[in-house]
Amino acid sequence: MRTLRDIDQLRSTLQEYRLHGQRIALVPTMGNLHAGHLALVACARQHADIVVSSLFVNPMQFGPGEDLDGYPRTFNADQAQLVEAGCDVLFAPAVSSLYPNGLDAQTRVHVPVVGEGLCGGSRPGHFDGVSTVVSMLFNLVQPDIACFGEKDYQQLAVIRKLVRDLHMPIEIIGVPIVRAEDGLALSSRNGYLSREERAKAPALYHTLCTLRDSLEHGAAIETALKQGKTTLYEAGFTPDYLELRETTLAPVSPTTRQAILLAAAKLGPARLIDNVTVQLP
Ligand code: PAJ
Repeated sequence: MRTLRDIDQLRSTLQEYRLHGQRIALVPTMGNLHAGHLALVACARQHADIVVSSLFVNPMQFGPGEDLDGYPRTFNADQAQLVEAGCDVLFAPAVSSLYPNGLDAQTRVHVPVVGEGLCGGSRPGHFDGVSTVVSMLFNLVQPDIACFGEKDYQQLAVIRKLVRDLHMPIEIIGVPIVRAEDGLALSSRNGYLSREERAKAPALYHTLCTLRDSLEHGAAIETALKQGKTTLYEAGFTPDYLELRETTLAPVSPTTRQAILLAAAKLGPARLIDNVTVQLP
């Protein structure tokens, strides 16, 4: 695997592959890799000849008071895992390479509607930061395909719309959520949890599953969501949101059948997110 920090080097390396007609897949990450990230790399491997992974803790997508400074940085371990997973190129630029004029002077990409509400509501500006850095990575790598996890369901929806609206010739592939044995969705932020909090954390997923079951058996949506929030508070969480949406993230209507139940909740120092699909009767 080649590790590249420089934009020009990345461009010339990838140009070689492209001249040889090789298909390129991109897996963007912020590092501190776990089996969820590696599932994206495995998916990328299946769909392309060359797998490029990026590792960049993107300051633009963190709000004031969020965990940018404390975000886990484990470069050597990440590099070793990517080699093991069969990644061909690791692109790990410095902040000053992607944002040479600083964040305030940077052009930003805003994806309307789908990026508003849910995580966009509780983290203002977050998806502009994601859309901006992902647009940059798409321009630099010019991948044929790019893989994103369904754990960050709204992020995936934002990227799909971004690519459609800006006519980028990139196929976006969503990869199912990878969970720990007790059901907790793997996340770099799980590392913030104490032992006691880690033991409580799977309740987020289990609450979503219980709620899904009652909705699939015809429970009234508003009542069920209220009950779900109460359950989360009782389990020690402070919910940010618990919402049922269409799979496009549009509001549900009486004719909705395929829906998605999404939650974000704080547990101690960590903000956890998760989602499950729901088949309404
Ligand atoms: P990060 O949180 O590092 O996640 C990188 C990718 O891994 C995302 O597509 C995310 O959805 C996926 N992922 C994380 N945990 C997963 C799990 N348990 N199962 C499946 N996929 C999982 O998301 C970001 O970084 C950033 O916002 C980024 C897209 C890199 C832009 O900066």
